[in-house]
Amino acid sequence: MLRTLENATALVTGASSGIGRATASILSRSKARVALVGRRQSVLEELATECGSLASAYSCDMTDDAQLERLAARIQTDFSGIDILIHSSGIIKLGKTETAPVADLDAQYAANVRGPYILTKYLLPLLRAVSGQIVFVNSSITRANNTAGRGSYAATQQAVHSIANALRDEVNEAGVRVTTIFPGTTATQRQIDLHEMSGKRYDPDRMLQPEDVAEAVLFALTIGRTAEITDLYLRPMLKPLV
Ligand SMILES: NC(=O)c1ccc[n+]([C@@H]2O[C@H](COP(=O)([O-])OP(=O)(O)OC[C@H]3O[C@@H](n4cnc5c(N)ncnc54)[C@H](OP(=O)(O)O)[C@@H]3O)[C@@H](O)[C@H]2O)c1
Repeated sequence: MLRTLENATALVTGASSGIGRATASILSRSKARVALVGRRQSVLEELATECGSLASAYSCDMTDDAQLERLAARIQTDFSGIDILIHSSGIIKLGKTETAPVADLDAQYAANVRGPYILTKYLLPLLRAVSGQIVFVNSSITRANNTAGRGSYAATQQAVHSIANALRDEVNEAGVRVTTIFPGTTATQRQIDLHEMSGKRYDPDRMLQPEDVAEAVLFALTIGRTAEITDLYLRPMLKPLV
């Protein structure tokens, strides 16, 4: 299968790290123009230089409504349209219901649910105009049972899955595809931080690689237009050593 995205424009959130970074790289290698979004402008600019002339950096805090509005306006001005929207930004806060600050729930809701919802809303007219595609990088925690200490994070991932499912029904008739990818544990900065916090051994070789998830995103984007990947689960081949 020819997997080129030549002439397509993609916006990738969370492009400064991990899965978003790997996805932005693979899209730019597939010849898409890529708008790299995150808060750390200097990191995004370094990646843009690595990706070449087809990539550009856009600093935006996904929890700030005004910044989201400005980002959408800039995208509209800088590109004639947008074909692909990839959501890969997000945060995780661990803590049991009894003891975790409510502020942790609010922060995750703002970053993981509200921000992606608003950005999707703003960019939808552009995506509709070209029968574009939207990918949500979610988490396999949505079907896990062992979520003690991760309830508030899991709740945000369930919420964003519900939003993706409703959106699909709203936009499929306009030819817009909506995909949710559910990776298992992936070797990114998030996992380095979580392992450090818990004192567990960090063993990236027994995890998914961000490039594996990026490959899955590209697959969903390039499958023939008579099909739509709705939900795609990925898990590491090897399990953690205890
Ligand atoms: N790693 C895993 O094991 C794993 C497993 C399943 C699902 N996932 C999902 O995959 C996605 C990416 O995770 P990752 O592991 O790649 O994480 P990561 O390495 O920690 O990267 C998170 C990204 O989100 C951006 N971000 C965080 N808060 C933001 C905000 N307020 N505004 C704008 N950007 C913000 C960060 O950019 P800045 O800091 O520059 O803003 C960064 O680029 C997440 O949705 C996560 O739930 C990860």
